[in-house]
Amino acid sequence: MENLIALGQKYVMNTYNRQSKVFVKGQGSYVWDSEGNKYLDFVGGIAVNILGHCPEVVQKALHEQAAKLIHCSNLYWIEPQIKLAQKLAEASSCDKVFFCNSGAEANEAAIKLARKWGKGRYEIITMEKSFHGRTLGALTATGQEKYRKDFEPLPGGFKYVPYNDLQALVDAIDHHTCAVMLEPIQGEGGVNVPDANYLKGVEEACRLNNLLLIVDEVQTGIGRTGKAFGYQNFGLEPDIITLAKGLGGGVPIGAMLAKEAVAQAFVPGDHASTFGGNPLATAVALAVIEKVFTEEFLVSVVEKGEYFKEQLNQLKTNYPIIKKVKGLGLMVGCELDVENGSAIVQYAIEHGVLINIVGNKTLRFVPPLTTSKDEIDQVIGILAQAFEEVG
Ligand SMILES: Cc1ncc(COP(=O)(O)O)c(C=O)c1O
Repeated sequence: MENLIALGQKYVMNTYNRQSKVFVKGQGSYVWDSEGNKYLDFVGGIAVNILGHCPEVVQKALHEQAAKLIHCSNLYWIEPQIKLAQKLAEASSCDKVFFCNSGAEANEAAIKLARKWGKGRYEIITMEKSFHGRTLGALTATGQEKYRKDFEPLPGGFKYVPYNDLQALVDAIDHHTCAVMLEPIQGEGGVNVPDANYLKGVEEACRLNNLLLIVDEVQTGIGRTGKAFGYQNFGLEPDIITLAKGLGGGVPIGAMLAKEAVAQAFVPGDHASTFGGNPLATAVALAVIEKVFTEEFLVSVVEKGEYFKEQLNQLKTNYPIIKKVKGLGLMVGCELDVENGSAIVQYAIEHGVLINIVGNKTLRFVPPLTTSKDEIDQVIGILAQAFEEVG
């Protein structure tokens, strides 16, 4: 393991603070490291492994499609791509889909589409504490200075307002504005769930001012919050939706969905992606959403999420280190009353549980949506131990 990590440090670019573990195998909610240690994975590839590790449906779709057609240019029609687009359109407020390979790329596509639709109006209002990706456009959309500094000059045309503050948004709209872009629940910003009527208010402001409502569902989409898409918890009808992470159940794929009248702004030559919507990725995504977009599956996510939050709130009564329990479905946050909670994460990993922290203060749990109450209990047990011993 040490040798491999030393090689990694020599040859892999230094863009992540990585734990000193090498993972070699995964099954269901568990992964194994190169030393044979087993871990309960509540990071889930950061909200990617929604059906757990190596789920049979994904394996089957991969194997079958790999034997038929692995890649084919978008200069031609591809059956699984068409079928996936149909399913996503039917399940959402949108009508047409552009496929790409990641969340940042989906947001880049959304930014370009909004600008083309805006016919001269180019400005997009985004939220403080938001996260939209690392490419220059998506990075500029991201309302967190810490990610943007050092990369200037950034493209213009973005304005930031505090999340959950409707008046600030309304005040920021001017004749340059073409769209508002936000996460229905902020992920990297700390698992921030907005007040009940905020998002509906944002939508009304968009309608009044003829602006597009762009919802970044990269983290909240595909069942994560107990609905097919996170915005459905708030009764919205977004004009553009971006997806990635869970869509491929571990296989890289991104998508940008738009309503017909908005999608029409793009014509051949406006946007493209060599790998976007490739047969392998779309065949897998199709199998993933067939499993996830069912009443039974989504209800189970809601139930497990509620159970998880109840257990965390129970812990809160014993451990004042917990400031606030938040989230929806299986996107759960536990805000700690500390400057830096990474010792808790470290304790958990040393005791066989993978968890993650955002903004140094909020433990973020985005486990496989197939996790069980028993596994949730295991995580609660380790957290209690961690708060007892290091908290
Ligand atoms: C809400 C949101 N949008 C966009 C992204 C960027 O996605 P990717 O890393 O696939 O580019 C992320 C990643 O964490 C995200 O959480």
